Amino acid sequence: MKILIGSDHAGYELKQKIVSHLKGREGLEVEDFGTDTSEVSCDYTDIALQVGRSVAHGDADRGILVCGTGLGMEIAANKVSGVYAAGCWNKEVAALSRQHNNSNVLTLGARVLDEKTAMEVVDTWLATEFEGGRHIRRTQKICAYERSANRAFNNGQGGQVVIFDHPLVQHKLSIIRDKNTPVKTFRETVAEIASLMVYEITRDLPLKMIDVETPVTRTKAYAIAGKKLAVVPILRAGLGMMEGVLNLIPNAKIGHIGLYRDPQTLAPVEYYCKLPGDIEERDIFLLDPMLATGGSSAAAISLIKKRGGRKISLVCMIGAPEGVSVVHEAHPDVNIFVAALDSHLNEHGYIVPGLGDAGDRIFGTR
Ligand code: RB5
Repeated sequence: MKILIGSDHAGYELKQKIVSHLKGREGLEVEDFGTDTSEVSCDYTDIALQVGRSVAHGDADRGILVCGTGLGMEIAANKVSGVYAAGCWNKEVAALSRQHNNSNVLTLGARVLDEKTAMEVVDTWLATEFEGGRHIRRTQKICAYERSANRAFNNGQGGQVVIFDHPLVQHKLSIIRDKNTPVKTFRETVAEIASLMVYEITRDLPLKMIDVETPVTRTKAYAIAGKKLAVVPILRAGLGMMEGVLNLIPNAKIGHIGLYRDPQTLAPVEYYCKLPGDIEERDIFLLDPMLATGGSSAAAISLIKKRGGRKISLVCMIGAPEGVSVVHEAHPDVNIFVAALDSHLNEHGYIVPGLGDAGDRIFGTR
């Protein structure tokens, strides 16, 4: 087992004692991340984040962090996604933090623990395994929350940007980014990405309890609470995503919005807009594969709002930061879902690195 250990100035002495205590132990490798003196004050945060990142990254199996109380280290390390840091003050708590919580970082308070207790805590924590069983469900809930929270950031005004960076989506995105991908494969892959994104965009659909009879017993189970949905592709590239989305939510109603760019003003102008009659009652997924300047997406959202639409999510494959800002400036309430947020727009308004013109590549018109 590989352990990373770190402390601030307040934890330095105890850290050194722990390192000596563990030194030469069979099957244990200990790497010291500092600090190297108790004379110079330093910030526990820096050490906690370094050790936390390395443990989360898989460079080591576990980490031990020591500061004055153990609290600063615990709080800071727990900000790193994948770290489950537990501050322990006796061997019972240390054992439980492994058995029930599967803690991968132990934090200790050098100013509140005597040396004997600290060593008991370390030994117990290192020797104790996670019990699994019912505790897996609980730790997995933490993990699931953490992953979803880290992929989303709020604009502070009600809307969110959610990056759906699932490995399958990332893999497929690379296929459509490749300029040598043929039209057929491009079109099919766009539809597949759109299908996968449905998992994310429908995450908050309300559920209701229903009665179900399994072969074993009657039970309560969940079903979608009959939410009304609408899918609205922006013509024409949005059509490429529509089939994929409808595969998973086939009962959604479909609207269409057509916009062209005025050659003089470059402003988007409506040439077609047909939405479901009861659009104001529906959760609306507006499809536009490339969120570039954001002009057409923002204009399409305005059109939908003018016709009564209220709960709108913009679903794109690739977004540029410029487009996200434009849409959120005009419509701060809208959630934006993207599979990737790219670097910037070039002087022609194309997303970099992007994938070129999605419409041309879906329909083979270039
Ligand atoms: C340092 O004085 C002290 O604040 C630090 O070691 C730690 O106890 C913070 O939580």
